[in-house]
Amino acid sequence: MSSQAAAAVPTKTPLLKSRLGSFLAVVPLSIWVINHIWDNLSAFKGAAAWEASVTTYSNPFGQAFTFVIVILPLLIHTFWGLARLFSFKPNNASYNNYGNLKYIVQRISAVGVLFFLGAHIWLAFLHPRLVEGHAEPFSDISREMHHHLPTLLVYLLGTLGTAYHLANGLQGFAMSWGIFASDRSMRRFEPVAIGLFLLLTAMSWGAIYALYTAGAAFSPELASLIP
Ligand code: HEM
Repeated sequence: MSSQAAAAVPTKTPLLKSRLGSFLAVVPLSIWVINHIWDNLSAFKGAAAWEASVTTYSNPFGQAFTFVIVILPLLIHTFWGLARLFSFKPNNASYNNYGNLKYIVQRISAVGVLFFLGAHIWLAFLHPRLVEGHAEPFSDISREMHHHLPTLLVYLLGTLGTAYHLANGLQGFAMSWGIFASDRSMRRFEPVAIGLFLLLTAMSWGAIYALYTAGAAFSPELASLIP
């Protein structure tokens, strides 16, 4: 092996690492998140429709498949993101511009999304299945949304942060993968990113509103009666 070829080898691994965490954030994570928010809008149609769209799998492999295509990429992206989070030094005081503001908000939203997803995945996905032996029922999530203010606030802020992180992240992704040929095409994408952020926030808050409204029908005391 020539010294030139030998020198080329180590650069391949970091490139793969840096690209994998970035790629998985979009395919499948971002696509799955958009679909998941869309499914949650079925809360407007009531308990049966919501449970059919959000918590029911057509076959036993569906659940394992979801785990593999969502949780594993999420873990890889999270480690990739945490490494970047700890390696950045904010310079917003010296360069107080819009791009730099978005850069820091992307990182702040990442921390918020990390805490939100930790709580959400445990309380709405793992705990009901592993501890209670069934998927999250509509009555539980809508009751919590209506009668437990911290739950409502965490969902409102968590989904706001996720919408920002995803929409702005897609712009960052397109920049780092060279999809924008020029600064001009990047600036043209700006309204699309803002539109996507507003749309995802509206969809998420719409689903939360539907759950909140439905939760009024359930007594707050019922939660403590369920074994
Ligand atoms: C719903 C889950 C998530 C989705 C859909 C998502 C999506 C994205 C996307 C599309 C990007 C842009 C990728 C790129 O610039 O190439 C990104 C960047 C980033 N993500 Fe996430 N993400 C999620 C969760 C997280 C979590 C839990 C963390 C961990 C703290 C995190 C940390 C980061 C960081 C630090 C960046 C910026 C990287 C950079 O620009 O150098 N993300 N995310």
